[in-house]
This record gives sequence, C-alpha cells and structure tokens, in this order.
Amino acid sequence: MTATLYDVAVRAGVSVSIVARVIHQSKNVEPDVQHRVQQAIEELKFRPNLFLQRKQTQQVVTIALIIPDLENPFFSKLARAVETAARQRGYTVFICVSDDRADREKIYIDTLKKNLIDGIILASNTLGPEDLYEMKINAIPLVVLDRMDHVRDHDLCTVLSNNRKGAKKAVQHLIEIGCAKIAHIAGPEAILPAKERRQAYCEMIYPHRIVTGDLTLDGGMQAIQSLLELEPEVDGIFVANDWMAIGAVKMLKHLGKRIPEDIAVCGFDGIELGEMIDPPLTTVAQPIDEMGEVAVTILIQKIEGRDFARSDTYELEGKLMIRESTTKGV
Ligand code: RIB
Repeated sequence: MTATLYDVAVRAGVSVSIVARVIHQSKNVEPDVQHRVQQAIEELKFRPNLFLQRKQTQQVVTIALIIPDLENPFFSKLARAVETAARQRGYTVFICVSDDRADREKIYIDTLKKNLIDGIILASNTLGPEDLYEMKINAIPLVVLDRMDHVRDHDLCTVLSNNRKGAKKAVQHLIEIGCAKIAHIAGPEAILPAKERRQAYCEMIYPHRIVTGDLTLDGGMQAIQSLLELEPEVDGIFVANDWMAIGAVKMLKHLGKRIPEDIAVCGFDGIELGEMIDPPLTTVAQPIDEMGEVAVTILIQKIEGRDFARSDTYELEGKLMIRESTTKGV
C-alpha cells in the first residue's frame, strides 16, 4: 500500500503540516526535523500527490462541520458556535447536513477531500470505524463533536457534554420536587448521548418506565401518548432532548394534563425555544457554545501541526435550568 502523508508524519514523529512544509522546502523547519522527515519519505518511498501540490497555492483556510439535522435547534446552535469560533480565528466554515445518512456523509467527505478541506468536525454518527480510519490515513485533521459512538477505540479527539451526569441532574430534580412515578422518553439507543442518558435514568429509577422516541417534535408527541397508555399514573418525565420535550408538552396540554401539577416535564439540551413555550421548559442545558469553541480550537491545533495525533476526550458539564414545567412560580 502506498505511503500517505500521515504515515510519513507518524514515522518522523511530526504533524502532517510539518511534512508539507518540508516537502515545499519552507524556511521555518528545524534542520533535524527536516532530516527526520526526509529520512521517513525515503524509507516509505512516499510520493507527494496532487493534494500537496495544490495545497501550497491555496490561500483561504477552510474547515467543514457535518451535522445530522438542521431543523432541531440544538444543531443550528452548535453550527453557530463552530462558525463563530472558526471565523474569529480566520477560518471559513462549510456546513454540511447529512440527515443522519451515511451515504450522504461519505459524499460530503469525498467532495471535501477533493476540495482540499483543511479539517473536519464531525457531529454525526453514521460513519463506521473503517470510514474514519480512511480519513485518518489520508491525513485529514478530524474532531468528533457530541456523538462519539463510533470512535471510542479509534483514538480520535472527541468533544461532548457529560450526558450521564446531566441526566442524573434531571432525574434528581424530579425526585426532589416530589415525583413518585418518574418515566423517561428516551432517544434512539444507536445514538450514544441518548443511550447514556437512558442508562443514567435506569441507575436512579426502578421500576423503569421508558418509551423511545426519535428526538423530533412529532416523536415527543407520539411518545407521550404511548407512555400514558402504558403508565397513566406517571407524575414526572425526563425527556432525552428538548425538541421531544416540547412535543410532549404540546400533547400533554392537548390531553388536558396540567404541567407541572399533574405531570412535571424536564428536557435536555437548553435550546432557546424551551424558554418560550408555556410553561417554560426545565432542562439540562448543554454547554453548546463551549463545545463548539473547544472543537474548533483542537481542530485548528491539528491543522497547524501541533498535537496532530492527540486523541483526548473532552467532556463538558451541563447546567440544570429550573423553570415552570417542573416548579410552579419559578
Ligand atoms: O437534540 C438532539 C440531540 O442529539 C442532542 O441531545 C444532542 O446531544 C444530539 O446528540
């Protein structure tokens, strides 16, 4: 198999950016580093491809953010955070919406590679480990944001909020306000943040009263109907995300339920719309702006040749925002 830029970087113990500088004979590379890179190139019989030749002439530095959905305000808020942080550092952002489809994500990634993208922030979870490894050997700086299901053992940098800790804050709040029969409207198990919130609920509440939704508004409306058919005595609900919680609140009011007197509702994410509904939604607000800022900072460090191979996980903490959907007269 022909050696890649990444192989040379790993063999020489430097970043791909340094390898590119040596190949283009940039001035600001230490002699011993130059020697190590040249030696690695010879040992691996590496031949620079079009990527490197064109890259040298490219002026604008661009990164891409791939998100699974644009209707859910969580992702538009996340995209806003990434774009703001990147722009402040002089980077342009391409935002790609994959609709949770692996075929679309692969088309995006192929197109981005052909257009010499400098780095990618992946906030979706449909690609398999082999797809991500292929990106790595093609030396595309990559940071995984929020949904890290597929990368745990593929030593990639990931940034997310602590879903288990946040879910426990939500359930503990429902317990503290006196709910005795607490249910959970879960997200799909295939999505790690939803799975971890469900696990946290199950560790705190027994018997489990769980129905699964698809993280959408309609999914919340349907899930609450199923839940009340199964468990009509429920008096508190932790919902896996705000988008479903807003749908659940609409349906509960349609069914004549009083919130929180009959049923208290707590969401997760902290989207602005949750504050606008009646009653305003109690939620665990993810640190979305900080998640975007940290993901951009790490990606730029990788692009600029520092810590290219770093593979840490950054878990940030969410904050419980108590409003009228759980506590009257807040
Ligand atoms: O609302 C969308 C959900 O999916 C969020 O909770 C976020 O964590 C994402 O994974």
